[in-house]
Amino acid sequence: MLIDLRSDTVTRPTPAMRQAISAAEVGDDVFGDDPTVIKLQELTADLLGKEAALFFPSGTMSNQSAIAAHTSPGDEIYADIGCHIFNYEAGAPAALSGVMIMPLQGHYGVFTAGQVEERLRPPDSHFPQSRLIWVENTHNRSGGTIFPQEEALRLQELAVRKGLKMHLDGARIWNAAAALHISERELAALFDSVSCCLSKGLGCPVGSLLCGSSEFIRRAHRFRKRFGGGMRQAGILAAAGIYALENHRTRLVEDHRRAKRLAEAIAKLSTFNLELDFVHTNIVIFDVTPGGFAGSQVTALLKAEDVFATAFGPKVRMVTHLDISDDDIDKTIAVLNKLFK
Ligand SMILES: Cc1ncc(COP(=O)(O)O)c(C=O)c1O
Repeated sequence: MLIDLRSDTVTRPTPAMRQAISAAEVGDDVFGDDPTVIKLQELTADLLGKEAALFFPSGTMSNQSAIAAHTSPGDEIYADIGCHIFNYEAGAPAALSGVMIMPLQGHYGVFTAGQVEERLRPPDSHFPQSRLIWVENTHNRSGGTIFPQEEALRLQELAVRKGLKMHLDGARIWNAAAALHISERELAALFDSVSCCLSKGLGCPVGSLLCGSSEFIRRAHRFRKRFGGGMRQAGILAAAGIYALENHRTRLVEDHRRAKRLAEAIAKLSTFNLELDFVHTNIVIFDVTPGGFAGSQVTALLKAEDVFATAFGPKVRMVTHLDISDDDIDKTIAVLNKLFK
């Protein structure tokens, strides 16, 4: 049996989730008629403490609709240089909304209010208009790291003082909340809008939600339509989301415990470099250059042993999720020790 640690998006719906999908009441959601979509949106808005939520096919479309709804062409967004919108959304902020991103050099995805303030633009017609502060929590490319609440609070104070908006890319907000033992609502409270994904740690086949004020969600709804994201009997997908929100959030601590165990084993291998202090949730990223490898060489060797991981240049990423057991972690550690000790 292969062990697929490439991403937490590789999960298959559980039998109970498939049952929820098959029992879903549906209607045409473009007409606003799908009761299951409406229920999912209300449940998510409530969990995140926002007035309204809107169901999207993907995190990318949810993020991009948020950008479009917050900005005008020529505006500037302040974000960590490793964030998803800057690296992995096909240039969409420029292509779809005509905005610029000021990439900030964060530490494991964490940038400071001071870094933003230094780069804010004076109100002069030469400059782009400073508009939006963008936080990713947890931070994918940095290895599922958590953005500290104290710094988010300082960012919010700055945003209020300077008239900026705050967005949270909370694709994995569920992991951050589970790791910190606080509610998602508390993490979301500092932000005007939050995007969250059902298709990652929560194990759904499809789906993300954008949450915010009713007025903001009304604007985002037009962009969802424009970007081609209106779905019809989407209750089929929303039913999986409701099931996941009710049943898969509390188990995320198990993924975190397994990621930690895997990371501790990797940290013992001198072929690799891994900073254990920055393994906060379900993502483990390590540098393979100490052993003279490229990431792709390591993933090829692992693949031959039926362990799948992702290579990023000199780094390798392994992600724990719903379909990874303690036994899978034992086997992965045994393969790593066999190949690299
Ligand atoms: C932090 C973050 N934001 C957004 C996305 C985009 O989600 P999707 O793949 O559903 O478009 C991802 C996907 O991995 C992500 O990790």
